[in-house]
Amino acid sequence: MKLFLKKDLFKSGLLLWCITVCSTVLAVDGSDLWLTTASKGHVTVQCQSKSAMLQLAVKELQEGWQGRDGAIIRLMLKKDNLLKADGFRIDSTSIQATSETGLLYGVFDLLRRQQTGASCMQVVSNPSYRFRILNHWDNLDGSIERGYAGRSIFWRGGGDQLNVTDADKLLWRKYARANASIGINGAVLNNVNASPQTLSADYLKRASAIATELRPFGIKVYLSINFSSPASLGKLKTSDPLDPEVISWWKAKTKEVYQAIPDFGGYLVKANSEGLPGPQDFGRTHADGANMLADALKPYGGIVMWRAFVYSPKDMDRAKQAYNEFVPLDGMFRDNVIIQVKNGPIDFQPREPFSPLFGALKKTPVMPEFQITQEYLGHSSQLVFLAPMWEECLQSDTYQAGKGSTVARCTDGSLFNPKNTAIAGVSNIGLDTDWCGNSFAQSNWYAFGRLAWDDQLKSEQIAQEWLRQTFRPEQAIKKITDEIWVKSFLIPVCQLMLQSRETAVNYSMPLGLHHIFSGYEHYGPGPWYAPPRLRKDWTPPYYHQADTLGIGFDRTSQGSDAVSQYQEPLRSMFEHLETCPENLLLWFHHIPWTYRMKNGQIFWDELCRKYDAGVQGVRGFQKTWDQAQTCVDNERFLKVQRMLRKHTRDAQIWKDGCILYFQQFSRLPIPNDVERPMYDLDVLLKRDMMLP
Ligand code: GCU
Repeated sequence: MKLFLKKDLFKSGLLLWCITVCSTVLAVDGSDLWLTTASKGHVTVQCQSKSAMLQLAVKELQEGWQGRDGAIIRLMLKKDNLLKADGFRIDSTSIQATSETGLLYGVFDLLRRQQTGASCMQVVSNPSYRFRILNHWDNLDGSIERGYAGRSIFWRGGGDQLNVTDADKLLWRKYARANASIGINGAVLNNVNASPQTLSADYLKRASAIATELRPFGIKVYLSINFSSPASLGKLKTSDPLDPEVISWWKAKTKEVYQAIPDFGGYLVKANSEGLPGPQDFGRTHADGANMLADALKPYGGIVMWRAFVYSPKDMDRAKQAYNEFVPLDGMFRDNVIIQVKNGPIDFQPREPFSPLFGALKKTPVMPEFQITQEYLGHSSQLVFLAPMWEECLQSDTYQAGKGSTVARCTDGSLFNPKNTAIAGVSNIGLDTDWCGNSFAQSNWYAFGRLAWDDQLKSEQIAQEWLRQTFRPEQAIKKITDEIWVKSFLIPVCQLMLQSRETAVNYSMPLGLHHIFSGYEHYGPGPWYAPPRLRKDWTPPYYHQADTLGIGFDRTSQGSDAVSQYQEPLRSMFEHLETCPENLLLWFHHIPWTYRMKNGQIFWDELCRKYDAGVQGVRGFQKTWDQAQTCVDNERFLKVQRMLRKHTRDAQIWKDGCILYFQQFSRLPIPNDVERPMYDLDVLLKRDMMLP
């Protein structure tokens, strides 16, 4: 026995040695993101300009070239009626654009095409949106609101917080390069819950240093502002947007901003929302507030992105409020104001119908706001690819100008033709080595950039592109044939990614459930969470409304009438139980537990089965990933494997917690084919899922 143990120990020691050696050779820490490929041959790049941006473009092409060895490529600035700003044309010997940024994007696109095997012939590509912006919810002390990948890359607390180091500059350049590679051209550097200090001279100096590093990559800097800055920073008596002193203060401050950052992009504003100050504090409207800032920015070409994320506890249905406040103001905003609207009417939930504001504002530009950071979709602890969710929103038909008025077309200028078009994504980036907290969270940053460039792209294409660029180099190192790599890695892992969002909906909030999270962290389940001190609209029972008769929020004409904010035929479709899409059932209806679903099941059974399918889905992801091991470097393989274990455990907690809690109201048995719960409800009630 003793001998056996020793031999066994020796064997496992050898195994450990092998694993260590292999992983040293193949260690990939994720810091290179999708920009992993080194050049395979020589290319001569002809380019007349020596600007900083074009020097970068030439360097990228030379260092990433995958085409014919000895090829010659010309970068040409040339007028072209088919190209919009930043657009480009690629053919076998040249890249052509009307701006230097267009040439840089063309270079990155050509390299992506070479790496992914897409055609490089006769490509004409134009961006769907003019402004493609990341919103960083980074606080000036270096923390990040809803950030799950370490601290801010822009700000830090402590004594030397305003000192700009070489390491800072290097990091900001890497960040800018990654963004440029997917066409992102703007970054809001600080949290929408903005400190008035953002506009102080010291912080403007740091913002200016950041802008200097981002500029050669075509990225403009924007800042979130606090509406009461004139009073709290400027020491004025008021921040009333119609007060002449306030107007002058903003003009002078904006001039100072442009002195520090000559190509500054503009302001992002969260006003009269979740306790933040705004024009309504002075009896003014959102338009009064936004226009005052727009006037200050106008001489410099800056824009105001004014958020429509507003709700108050007084209204009976939070989902209706943004529409109620903004539709009466349509047409009253200056032409350099854009209203920033979250994809759904509540708040970045795993599934929501699209916000009825899309298309309803016809004389005011509207920009979609997506959340890249996974606040409501498992933080960086769960593998959820978000492109299918954004694609679902962009392709939703609003019917606002007849059939085919998708959210994409209502916002990208195809239907209403505003002066400015824009799209924003709340970033998931932090100081973690892999930037995003796990390898797969990088795909969401990538996907946002790609959809901002082309809002008609399909999630499958984005996932495949990302996988090929991020994991393909392993194929060469491990000498795996293309056929095997595609069969054993690309196809199954791509499938996993495409299923991951629906799976997350199933184990957390199926069939139209929404906002049933535990407490403050928005991670685990908490359908029971309702401390008496809390605003009702911040507690899950407000949203699920479960009782012994049924479950769901009645938003029909008999209930809150939120359906009336949608254009026909959607209004009637959502209003009637028989036509309401089942994946939004509990969003629009309070339905009996025994309601008969289209497949013949009663609702309670269907709900249990959806939760079960969610857990089974993540278990399937574990198997898929394990089977892909031979195609992945050890470091990333083990990290993702570990993440999927936690993902499965937490999906189980979601399922057990929700089924057992709702069963108290339904009083019906769990169907026999559904896996039995593993946790007790009382244990889950006490447990905080965020604890290790
Ligand atoms: C959510 C999120 C907040 C954020 C807010 C916003 O409510 O939980 O942290 O500030 O959205 O978008 O403004």
